Amino acid sequence: MYDYYLGGKDNFPADRAAAEKVLEIVPQVPFMVRENRAFLGRAVRFLRAQGITQFLDIGTGLPTQENVHQLAGEEAKVVYVDNDPQVLAHARALLQDRPHVRIIDGDLREPERLLADAGEHLDLSRPVAVLMVAIVHFIQDDPRPIMATLTSAMAPGSFMALSHACKDIRPEIAPGVERVYQEASAPFTARGSAEIIALFDGLDLVEPGMVNLPEWRPEDPDHVPFRDSPPYFLCGVARKPAR
Ligand SMILES: C[S@@+](CC[C@H](N)C(=O)[O-])C[C@H]1O[C@@H](n2cnc3c(N)ncnc32)[C@H](O)[C@@H]1O
Repeated sequence: MYDYYLGGKDNFPADRAAAEKVLEIVPQVPFMVRENRAFLGRAVRFLRAQGITQFLDIGTGLPTQENVHQLAGEEAKVVYVDNDPQVLAHARALLQDRPHVRIIDGDLREPERLLADAGEHLDLSRPVAVLMVAIVHFIQDDPRPIMATLTSAMAPGSFMALSHACKDIRPEIAPGVERVYQEASAPFTARGSAEIIALFDGLDLVEPGMVNLPEWRPEDPDHVPFRDSPPYFLCGVARKPAR
């Protein structure tokens, strides 16, 4: 469905049918997913500028034009994690022969195993950037224990980047979207902004804090999408302080 929203060709009739139902409720979804990818790009460039050279991208999605390893720099080590066999097959086909990149069949709901596997490629005693972009809203249970496991494994000076569907901004549409995803393979749970900010517990949000996607460190001040229709995604980047 995400690939269809992005205008890609890696989708099936069932994906397209479910995505069309979401588009009937929220016609702005293609803009939102593009803004989400743009946030991911700006966040990775920001993290690289902070000296981060290790990236753990959880919920990678199908490879698109600007992937984390392309933005993170030649020398950066990248671990991609997903639990969707299609995503893993595409990623492996695209990324073979790249010694700095590793693809892991992992599940965010099993963070200890995910960290153990990622730790075979990344040095988790050194700062790392954990990317959780448009994935935590696929966790139906309370995600805070998962976040706590991940943040406690991160070395001081590490970062976490996150985007998450927010039901406060457009409460009227969240139930309809959740219903369509419920019928599809991946149930979807939008959360309130206070719940989303709480996911960064123990970390310090960097400026400008938790904001709508286009407002996070925009590179073009004239770029103001959603002027008439607010997005329903929040995003932010936070840093683990020194002990
Ligand atoms: C909407 S896509 C986001 C892709 C990319 N992070 C981005 O923002 O462009 C969500 C991805 O998370 C994956 N995913 C969902 N639940 C997961 C889980 N429990 N563990 C690992 N991956 C998961 C899906 O397979 C999908 O590829």
